Amino acid sequence: MSLSPQWLDELRARISLSGVIGRSVRVQKAGREFKACCPFHNEKTPSFTINDEKGFYHCFGCGAHGDVIRWMTDHQGLPFMDAVKELAAQAGMDVPAPDHRAAKRAEQHKSLHDVMAAAQGYFVESLKGPGGAAARAYLASRGFPEGIVREFGFGYAPNDRQGLKAALSAFPEEMLIEAGLRIVVEGKDPYDRFRDRLMLPILDARGRVIAFGGRILAAEKTDAPKYLNSPDTPLFDKGRTVYNLHRAGPAARQSGRIVVVEGYMDVVALAAAGIAEAVAPLGTALTEHQLERLWRVTECPTLCFDGDAAGQRAAMRAIVRALPMLQPGHSLRIVTLPKGLDPDDVIKQQGAPAMEALLGEARSLVDVLWEAERDAAPLTTPEDKAGLKARLLAHCDTIAHPDIKALYRSELTRRFGDLAYARPERAPFQPRQAQGQRPRGQPWKPAPPPLDPQAAARLRNVGTNDALMAAVLAGLVAHPSLIGQQSEALARLHPQQAAQAALLDALLLLADSGQPLESGTLPTILAARGLTVPQAADYAGMRFGFLNAASDSARDELAEAIALLVELPAVETALVEANRRHEAEFSDESFAEQQRLLQRRLALLARLGQMGRARLSV
Ligand code: UTP
Ligand code: MN
Repeated sequence: MSLSPQWLDELRARISLSGVIGRSVRVQKAGREFKACCPFHNEKTPSFTINDEKGFYHCFGCGAHGDVIRWMTDHQGLPFMDAVKELAAQAGMDVPAPDHRAAKRAEQHKSLHDVMAAAQGYFVESLKGPGGAAARAYLASRGFPEGIVREFGFGYAPNDRQGLKAALSAFPEEMLIEAGLRIVVEGKDPYDRFRDRLMLPILDARGRVIAFGGRILAAEKTDAPKYLNSPDTPLFDKGRTVYNLHRAGPAARQSGRIVVVEGYMDVVALAAAGIAEAVAPLGTALTEHQLERLWRVTECPTLCFDGDAAGQRAAMRAIVRALPMLQPGHSLRIVTLPKGLDPDDVIKQQGAPAMEALLGEARSLVDVLWEAERDAAPLTTPEDKAGLKARLLAHCDTIAHPDIKALYRSELTRRFGDLAYARPERAPFQPRQAQGQRPRGQPWKPAPPPLDPQAAARLRNVGTNDALMAAVLAGLVAHPSLIGQQSEALARLHPQQAAQAALLDALLLLADSGQPLESGTLPTILAARGLTVPQAADYAGMRFGFLNAASDSARDELAEAIALLVELPAVETALVEANRRHEAEFSDESFAEQQRLLQRRLALLARLGQMGRARLSV
């Protein structure tokens, strides 16, 4: 059936979204919108908004989002066409007659669906029959309860090259081949693909069988591949399918969590252990499509990987895939399982609570990325360290979202700085600073990304930025050891005043030259180059705690001030972009993003204000 976008727009325009939702959820008017407790997740205070003008609902709690058709499919559980028909009846519109070719395509798909359903029936029957004894015994050895075996639709493909063909004789051979159930090799008779295997159906989001995975019955390694899967067919695209999503999706919307494991059997074992919101890719690394589908269900899917080297490589592959796609609020959490155990093993050996505990210890994407790169190679020589830095920055460069990119950069370079320039007692392999062997790393000055002019103007309006910069520069002269340690972050600052820029350049060059810097002699060295250290008069009346020599926390606070100076312009730039986007789109997402950045900016400025007052209270 072909429904034109115009026709669908007309349908949406004629229906009041709040009216439709109001039939099953208590909604309250709130300004130009409506509010309700979100029907897609459990909550006590309403974060679900309905905007009739834009025709969208959006939940700020769980991210559920859609139009009136989406509401009918996701909340009311109707298939798309039924949803459209019901809404059309309400709107007094006629559903357009089906387009001939599309109808034929749908008809053909329908028949392939029929083939798959029939095959599923055959496998389930075979598992029950006398030929299925070995498969039943194998299943019993895995310890899955009967309810789970039925729910997941386990079956058995008999050891017979023509068994399926005979059972599905109502369908023409070409359809069995197109459905991936029979194999043709040139010059030979076609034969059944799955023979003597335990069968697991793979279902689409609407719960229809679109493919199969077939496991050998042997517990031990044999020459045959452990799993044989359906090939890609008109119904099945491996890279776009997520195993068990049709069951896990609704469960995940309730619990706010989705767990991604590597194997079919892990999904089944988790379900048996009461964790219904588990899914798996189909034997390959997660694809972009699969990640997108997961992010539509929850903001932060939890990925489980084996603790061995292969598992860690798989985790890195997933991270590398995800980085370019990160969006505000969208991330991944990663669980590293004990070495050599998959979730199924963990549950069998240690019980479901142990698995829950591991899931509770999931680490953030940035933590896993940092640790994986840090531990990937030795860090003995300056060249090793420069290599680590290059790898980290290369990852950051793949992040598409400008704000997230900037924040990853500052976070990873901070961690790098802490590690690479750590004092000897913390990292014994570090050459002593006093011996003048500080690693030079790379030329210190990567061209700073140009600051958006609007953002620069706003920063100047803030007025405190130049003052903070001045205070930070004075602080660096007082604590010169921090210059090398913070050189990455410092290289990303853009002082607005030429004198400040020159001073910062000189400090970084001096630190990089390897000569020991002393707070006592540094002002003289700078003066010889025509540079002056900012004085109290340059701090716009603020008194910064980190300039108080008596303060213990001066170094830490100075480092924090530097981080502020890096993040503030990044947030300002992102905010300009977010304002532009919101003006163009006026969508709930663009609004949320704009608000988030405004909040962040406020938080940074508030912290800055606190720093500027600190000394008064001493
Ligand atoms: P695993 O070997 O971890 O599978 O492969 P598993 O699900 O834990 O199976 P059991 O517990 O040994 O029975 C992970 C996934 O990789 C794909 C399957 O999707 C499997 O679930 N795979 C594995 C294949 O497609 N073919 C294979 O030969 C092996
Ligand atoms: Mn397993």
